[in-house]
Amino acid sequence: MRRLPTRSTGGVRRRIVGALAVTVLGLGGLAAVPASAAAPTAAVASTRPTSAASPALDDGLALTPPMGFNNWNSTHCRADFNESMVKGIADLFVAKGLKDAGYQYVNLDDCWALPTRDANGKLVPDPVRFPNGIKGVADYVHSKGLKLGIYTSAGTKTCDSAGFPGGLGHEYSDAQQFADWGVDYLKYDNCNNQGVDAVQRYTTMRDALRATGRPIVYSICEWGQNKPWEWAAGIGQLWRTTGDISDSWGSMLSLMKKNLPLAPYAGPGHWNDPDMLEVGNGGMTDAEYRTHFSMWSVMASPLLIGTDLRKASQETYDILSNRDVIAVDQDPLGKQGSVVSSAGGRWVVSKEMKDGSRAVALFNESGSAQRIATTAKAVGLPSADAYVARDLWQHKNYNTAGTLAATVPAHGTLLLRVAADPKWAAYPPAAEVGLDGGAFVEPGVSTKVPGTFTNLGRNAALDVSVSLSGPEGKGWIVQPTGPTRASVVPGGTSLHTTWTVSAPAGTATGSYDLALRATYRSPQGTKVTSTVPVTASVATAPPSGTSSLGDLPWLSTANGYGPVERNTSNGEDAAGDGHPITIGAVVYAKGLGVHAPSSVDYYAARSCERVTAQVGVDDEKGTKGTVAFEVWADDRLVASTGTLTNSDAAKAVSADVTGAQIVRLVVTDGGDGVDSDHADWADAQLTC
Ligand code: GLA
Repeated sequence: MRRLPTRSTGGVRRRIVGALAVTVLGLGGLAAVPASAAAPTAAVASTRPTSAASPALDDGLALTPPMGFNNWNSTHCRADFNESMVKGIADLFVAKGLKDAGYQYVNLDDCWALPTRDANGKLVPDPVRFPNGIKGVADYVHSKGLKLGIYTSAGTKTCDSAGFPGGLGHEYSDAQQFADWGVDYLKYDNCNNQGVDAVQRYTTMRDALRATGRPIVYSICEWGQNKPWEWAAGIGQLWRTTGDISDSWGSMLSLMKKNLPLAPYAGPGHWNDPDMLEVGNGGMTDAEYRTHFSMWSVMASPLLIGTDLRKASQETYDILSNRDVIAVDQDPLGKQGSVVSSAGGRWVVSKEMKDGSRAVALFNESGSAQRIATTAKAVGLPSADAYVARDLWQHKNYNTAGTLAATVPAHGTLLLRVAADPKWAAYPPAAEVGLDGGAFVEPGVSTKVPGTFTNLGRNAALDVSVSLSGPEGKGWIVQPTGPTRASVVPGGTSLHTTWTVSAPAGTATGSYDLALRATYRSPQGTKVTSTVPVTASVATAPPSGTSSLGDLPWLSTANGYGPVERNTSNGEDAAGDGHPITIGAVVYAKGLGVHAPSSVDYYAARSCERVTAQVGVDDEKGTKGTVAFEVWADDRLVASTGTLTNSDAAKAVSADVTGAQIVRLVVTDGGDGVDSDHADWADAQLTC
């Protein structure tokens, strides 16, 4: 990754990436299409340290990741951050069952103090925001059986541009004030640090907190700048691993990717902190917020609610109070989940749980539904006759012979808790339902779309019935051309179905929602209904002859930073912010500018023959950037360059894509992580 949001001396900066649209997550059971439909790209390598660094504190604090609230993500420094908000949140923690679900800390962020200390060098709470002082809110919060957190910076001033007093040089006095007020948690930021060594700054405050004799959870917030995972375990109970989160899909995703490789460093009393939750703040869809909450829990991250609960929707409460998911986060073994596989936006992350089960996230980073599959063995479970997989958003159990697979909607996460369980027969078999290879439809042309229902379980699925329906009321015709029912589908076998799908002539290109539904029952009579949101892509065949891929419409893209750019390099943020495509000082007028990991799909309608391009790392990154280019014809890898760096001249690619329905241009990170990976498909052309 190239640059993170950083701030060393104050001044507000936020990185905001527009949220993409998302299909609603609504997997009934496990559902999918066969492996051949999966987008094939190379796995993303993760940096994996061999052992965690310094030993944790043995003070018994934060033995599971802290759970609570912090006002920053919802209010920043606004005036509505005040005593009545803090009290209101404490009240809601109790009234809405969040306290019972495990949320405990009510934390104040920046802007609670007056800009200057008093004559004795003491911090002064802002009397307008906190007329009863911090002691007043602490007493109130404690009276509800909750705990209070506070904030300051390991610098001369805090981070907000208004510049409130920081703790540098005042550690012992400030810590004592916090303890006297009844503070239970300190977030210690990094702004205005005067260049003083981070380990020294954070250690001094640790000692000052200790000297008070009050147990205070100590949250180190230096944004991952000095690799705190390597030194902070003996200093605080948690440390930020990233810059600030913002309420967007791109921000959440980039922090997740930074935090995932740090799994070996987390454990009871010493947690990686990829920043507070944005769930409920409105910049992401509910499906994206479920992914955010699922992935933070699988990463054993602190769960600090960042939305104003006084205005939160029922859906927000439902996400934040999901006890099945919270139990993953709060598991006493304290392992952070680690990446089992990651390719083409399909992530499998597995978290070992104290009872021997695994929490398994099948997370779809991409903008279209994809099949994601793994096995009980791959996620670390012992071999067994069968397993029970609980869907932690559906709250339902299924049995599986070992395959864990589903069609996961765009930006969605299927979160399972899987265990080897001799009582598997008490639950219906898991089934995977999907369309093989997706549905690509040309307007006015009837297309055959095959689908599969696969019983992943150990026992039979009975009275199986599968249906597919088209976008409501838009003149689409969707009809089965063969059987869609079976009285028995034994475990490990499939029912194959075929439909014809046609969109009316003149239908605009794009993605359209279809509903694929399967119903069946278990031998015990449990009825299962599984609805899989699938999409039909309406696309037109590319023109015959040779076309520039920089100008042709694509089906979908996934890109490391910012959008894929047509005929310029990738500028990492907004559309159109790139530069002329330049490789080895040669400038190209046409092509695509991407950032690894990237994938650009074109509809080739089985009527094209060849892709050609001059590929390489764009000159704009100086000596940085290491990538590898691949061309796929459906599920066949038809060209790959191997690793290219900024010192390589453009490499010619020529790939035979004869017969492909989909042509996919893939760029991986070259195996060394995503950093300055500006990749150009210069002069990319498709001949049909
Ligand atoms: C920094 C921190 C944020 C927040 C603000 C307050 O940016 O990383 O989490 O505390 O300061 O100013």
